[in-house]
Amino acid sequence: MKKIVDLLQEEISKAFEKAGYDAKYAKVTVSNRPDLCQYQCNGAMPAAKEYHKAPIQIAGDIVEAVGDSSTFKEIAAQAPGFINMVVSDEFIADYINKMNESETFGCDKTDEPKTIVIDYGGANVAKPLHVGHLRSAVIGESIKRTARFLGHKVIGDVHLGDWGLQIGLIITELSKRKPELVYFDESYEGEYPKEAPFTMADLEEIYPYATGRSKEDPAYKEEAQQATAELQSGRKGYLALWQHIINVSVADLRKIYTKLNVEFDLWKKESDAQPYIPDMVQYMKDGGYAHIDDGALVVDVKEESDTKEIPPCMILKSNGATLYNTTDLATIVERRKLFDPDKIIYVVDKRQSLYFEQVFRCARKTKIIGDDVDLIFVGFGTMNGKDGKPFKTRDGGVLRLEQLLKDVNDQVLEKMKDRDMDEASMADTAAKISLAAIKYGDLSNQASKDYVFDVDRFTSFEGNTGPYILYTIVRTKSLLAKVADNNITIDDSVKIAAPDNKSETDVMLALSKWSETVQAAYEEQAPHKICQFVYELSDAFNKFYHENKIVTNEDAAVRESYIKLSRLVGRVLEKAIDLLGLEAPEKM
Ligand code: ARG
Repeated sequence: MKKIVDLLQEEISKAFEKAGYDAKYAKVTVSNRPDLCQYQCNGAMPAAKEYHKAPIQIAGDIVEAVGDSSTFKEIAAQAPGFINMVVSDEFIADYINKMNESETFGCDKTDEPKTIVIDYGGANVAKPLHVGHLRSAVIGESIKRTARFLGHKVIGDVHLGDWGLQIGLIITELSKRKPELVYFDESYEGEYPKEAPFTMADLEEIYPYATGRSKEDPAYKEEAQQATAELQSGRKGYLALWQHIINVSVADLRKIYTKLNVEFDLWKKESDAQPYIPDMVQYMKDGGYAHIDDGALVVDVKEESDTKEIPPCMILKSNGATLYNTTDLATIVERRKLFDPDKIIYVVDKRQSLYFEQVFRCARKTKIIGDDVDLIFVGFGTMNGKDGKPFKTRDGGVLRLEQLLKDVNDQVLEKMKDRDMDEASMADTAAKISLAAIKYGDLSNQASKDYVFDVDRFTSFEGNTGPYILYTIVRTKSLLAKVADNNITIDDSVKIAAPDNKSETDVMLALSKWSETVQAAYEEQAPHKICQFVYELSDAFNKFYHENKIVTNEDAAVRESYIKLSRLVGRVLEKAIDLLGLEAPEKM
């Protein structure tokens, strides 16, 4: 289904041609002065240069050529040469009825489905999930759902960090605490125990302890690095411990991601790319892409046009060890082999942008990926506390994601304590509201910007917040429940009538932006555009709700039309929040 701007553009193009001007000037956009008009065309200004006429004269010619059209309520030339448009009530209502009849509310599926891998989440095993990983999970999930809604084949991969120093640190600390474990006995030939010698809680204590100690004690750090290298070169006992760490951590991570309504199609890990490394390294050497620099194997990725220093991409350290880069490059090789993607999107902290620039350039230069594959880095900003510094616990520690979820949930429960609801519905409702508070609070900001995580504001039921959006959806649901209680049935053939007041027109105009919003959110990897849409629509709907009698309207035709419109608003909002990874409760 065509977007409103496209429909208008077609009509304006015809007018340009009819008046003897090139239709390339007929671009129509949503007005940036909604107080004056709804849509506008500024093409008379550039056209004035070509035709050596005053822009206002051209704009006047276009308005005259449009003539008496049923599309517009008003169309006027405005100095110095704007063409301002207000669409007719019938035109907008017709568009809304078409949206209502479409399963996707008029948002067309793509004609060219792409295969897209989304690398998001990026948690590290053995480390508790902390707020730094929240953004990746939340933003990536929305990008994934949006692309899928448009008909693309999307594969979401959590890409767990499981191959770095954190494992060496745990192995080292464990070897001090429990040297008797068979994993440390190099001569041991038997089977290793099925049961892990630690729990998630143990790991959560061991890891920070070992990190702290390695910072103070160089010998300890070296031991951990050595253990990491031995793990990576296949020491059996260490591999068995590593497997235990993964099993214990993944079980825990699954629980938390489920709570966050984040679902990965793949639970791949950095280590899964290891088998691809030897061939890749050989290929880079054979192709003359990589050379030895100070003992290390590197690929130069500088370009003439660079204005800042882009260091070479290191493939192997002088001791032969692989790096984060190596794994990411090998993962590209792996993904290409397994999925042949058209696009790989990485949703990672923007502080890794230089790193990804190196990796992408290296992948292109060495041709491990073709030029037809897009590599996209979606770098997100930091989540700060109210003091403007990275979000921490009160005592300055790193806040665990689970704790954050619980704190927000407690706050929501407190707000709802006088609601008349049984315990189970209360728990379910509070969980949905807190998730909306957290995720919407995050997603409503442009991803690349830092933002302040303000629990009080995010959990508020008013303003541009997740709970406010859910509240609006619940309002549409209770309205429909009332319709059912009053035995009002509405025939499918009933159309939504042309709007009879401004608040209704505003609801329709907000609704009509659905397909361009979803399209833009997909193309620009910008979930905040969906948030803007839901906020604008919610606001328009609440105003309409307050200013009009809906279920109790005495005029049956008006009542039915209003109810139908309200139902459409509810359905569109629910779909929109689904694309954000949220769900609405039945009551609030
Ligand atoms: N595990 C990494 C971290 O915590 C994020 C992984 C991002 N994805 C990637 N392909 N490098 O920083």
